[in-house]
Amino acid sequence: MTTNLKLTQNEPASLDVDAVVVGVLPGPALAPGAAGVDQALGGRLVEALQAVGATGKPGEVHKLPTLGALPASVIVAVGLGDDPSAETLRRAAGAAVRALAGTAKAALALPASDADSASAVATGALLGNYAFARYRTGEQPETVEELLLAAPADAEGRVAEDTAIAEAVTLVRDLVNTPPSHLSPEDLADVADRVAKESGLEIEILDERALVDGGYGGIAGVGQGSVNPPRLVRLAYSHPEADKNVVFVGKGITFDTGGISIKPAEGMDWMKSDMGGAGAVLGALQAVAALKPKVNVIGYLAIAENMPSGSAQRPSDVITIYGGKTVEVLNTDAEGRLVMADAIVRSAEDSPHLLVDVATLTGAALVALGVRLTGVMANDDDVRAKIVAAAEAVGEPSWGMPLPEELRKGFDSPVADIANIPSERWGGMLAAGVFLKEFVPDGVRWAHLDIAGPAFNKGEPYGYIPKGGTGAATRTLVRLAREVADGNL
Ligand code: BES
Ligand code: MN
Ligand code: ZN
Repeated sequence: MTTNLKLTQNEPASLDVDAVVVGVLPGPALAPGAAGVDQALGGRLVEALQAVGATGKPGEVHKLPTLGALPASVIVAVGLGDDPSAETLRRAAGAAVRALAGTAKAALALPASDADSASAVATGALLGNYAFARYRTGEQPETVEELLLAAPADAEGRVAEDTAIAEAVTLVRDLVNTPPSHLSPEDLADVADRVAKESGLEIEILDERALVDGGYGGIAGVGQGSVNPPRLVRLAYSHPEADKNVVFVGKGITFDTGGISIKPAEGMDWMKSDMGGAGAVLGALQAVAALKPKVNVIGYLAIAENMPSGSAQRPSDVITIYGGKTVEVLNTDAEGRLVMADAIVRSAEDSPHLLVDVATLTGAALVALGVRLTGVMANDDDVRAKIVAAAEAVGEPSWGMPLPEELRKGFDSPVADIANIPSERWGGMLAAGVFLKEFVPDGVRWAHLDIAGPAFNKGEPYGYIPKGGTGAATRTLVRLAREVADGNL
């Protein structure tokens, strides 16, 4: 991704760029921002759009040659639909920028006459301008090198914030896309360490010895089967005038084979994304450190590699979670809830005003909600509703889900306090939430985000979402920190 997006108050049609992006409304008609380009074409832009069949449908992309009518050689026309929302603008900007991959310099002449719309266009353009090429030696997937956004100068501050957030999402995408051969638990903790030093965050890293000695039986148990030992990372951002602590906990399984309860070979490569929750928490902390909201934010990354081996945990093993509760591990593939439990219990030491955990926790989330939606569960109806609203506001679709009390009894174990899988298979996403709830500190408002679907895009890119790692939940977490800072949550 380029963070090379600059604002300009010049007429986009006159800019020395390779391409100009304009918006198309149903009709087709020109969206605000396109007038100068139309003028340069002698008022014939609508006619040209009609000729190529542009309808103004959201996300529809057409390219038109300018044949010397303006410095740019191509116009990219992107559909916006009627009365475009912030998310429609983000997606349109993302789709337009993706269509320009390989272009040196592009100008965005999209609706951006106020800070809100400029922010949406900037976010979509920055997030759409992503490629992951670290392990390619031949032809490189490309991005646009330089983006110029026509918008008023007073949008500068907002766009600078959007750039910081987009950089955080890019970090998360890169981490999710990095193969487990190049991202062991120790590597992930090292990245967190680098981010902490660059951003001025406090950091504490527990290694495998510290985890065993400290009684973190979930993370230690899941990690014991791998030659790459586990880690628990605690990151902290603090504001001198803050009176509230928000705690985020992320699942950081750098690869999930299932362990002894091994997964089928088909599609197992997907499990390199099983650290997407920890990635989102790290990204959110990096962004928060840049945005400096008046709240303290603590992030835990519960990191392990789930492997089968002679030292791996066995189905029927009993482990002790931080704080003393025992768990009978009936299925080693239900490992996320074990590492999360340690960090959730530990978070009590930070007296959270709000505790939010994020995890690629269950295949059942995909069955229930498909690949794009995050499942939001909580022990407080108001918190759940506000998180769904916050996610919606930033364009990360989610849906509120219940935590049915009756699911708890399925976890009863004859040998330990609780088993890690229920006796009934139905409602697996909700059941996993019910399991985690057992470890939430008393009196703490808590929400659980299951991002198994949206963390990784196995399909084709759309809007500003690339193939592979998406950075899902990062922007929602940043928004939540700001909502608490503003006294709204
Ligand atoms: N990491 C997986 C969940 C997952 C599946 C994420 C597909 C993304 C895509 C998790 O650790 C897991 O294996 N869950 C099991 C739980 C089951 C054993 C109760 C599952 O969902 O099958
Ligand atoms: Mn698993
Ligand atoms: Zn997993």
